[in-house]
Amino acid sequence: MSLLGRSLLDINQLKNSDVEELFSFSKKLKQLKPLPLGHKVLGLLFFEPSTRTRASFEMASHLIGVKSLSLDPSQSSITKGETIEDTALTLQALGAHALVMRHSSPGISEKLSELLKIPVINAGDGQRGHPTQALLDAFTILEERGAIVGEKVLLVGDVKYSRVARSNIQLLKKLGAEVAVCSPSTLKDPYLEGVYQVANLEEGLRWATVCMMLRMQVERQMGYEVPSLKEYSRRFGINAQRLKLFTSKGILMHPGPFNRGVELAPEILEDPRNRILAQVKNGVFVRAALLSRIMGVDMEGMKL
Ligand code: NCD
Repeated sequence: MSLLGRSLLDINQLKNSDVEELFSFSKKLKQLKPLPLGHKVLGLLFFEPSTRTRASFEMASHLIGVKSLSLDPSQSSITKGETIEDTALTLQALGAHALVMRHSSPGISEKLSELLKIPVINAGDGQRGHPTQALLDAFTILEERGAIVGEKVLLVGDVKYSRVARSNIQLLKKLGAEVAVCSPSTLKDPYLEGVYQVANLEEGLRWATVCMMLRMQVERQMGYEVPSLKEYSRRFGINAQRLKLFTSKGILMHPGPFNRGVELAPEILEDPRNRILAQVKNGVFVRAALLSRIMGVDMEGMKL
């Protein structure tokens, strides 16, 4: 089934063939110059802070000739008591052809997709899911490691509160990777299935070909999960010493934003295995591929 007109609310909605098609299209888009602006409009509604995801959707829409219309909830009529539903309906009535939505409440994008006639793309709903981050991460693994099948992906840190972890685990397993997690016992997800639990970071780094660090989601934690960030860093932080255990051909990833000195020591940003900015760059092309498929952007004239 084509993606045209469909919402993307959960990474599990995509079949492997959808993902493969998006990835080969993303690769082609990487070679392109941006299209002149056409007539389609992408609405952006972000109720939680974002640097990469929002900017990436904006860059992606510029690349395929779609205008982006970003509504800042703190400056909108939401502050006057208007509901999210009425705000989204207003964006639709203004002429948006699709809506990208980030909110702290799990499932809110589903609710909006039932209400709106235009497709909704979930750009992060609380701790539940972040499907486009999973797509760009899998694309990066494919590009950098040559395959996803058989890759050994280690997720380190706050698995419990991380929507990035949840969507990544689902997609990577579906695409044939082995996935392991390494986290403090208070930050494990008790409902995770089919994922190895490694006893300590050293063991995990010896095993992995891809090491994906996760930000400590302090804004979602209850405050008792770790004694202190310093103690967390001592046991679960990636530093140069620990990286000696990690294969020289492996890659280091982090969805950002990262906290220097917490989940990673600053020196590892210089490590040749660091792919954090490659992830950011790939996000633009993967989102461009997804948007153009969902919004039915006419790519005629682009030599694809
Ligand atoms: C993440 C998010 O907001 O879910 N960042 C991102 O989208 N690149 C991860 C995080 O906030 O830790």
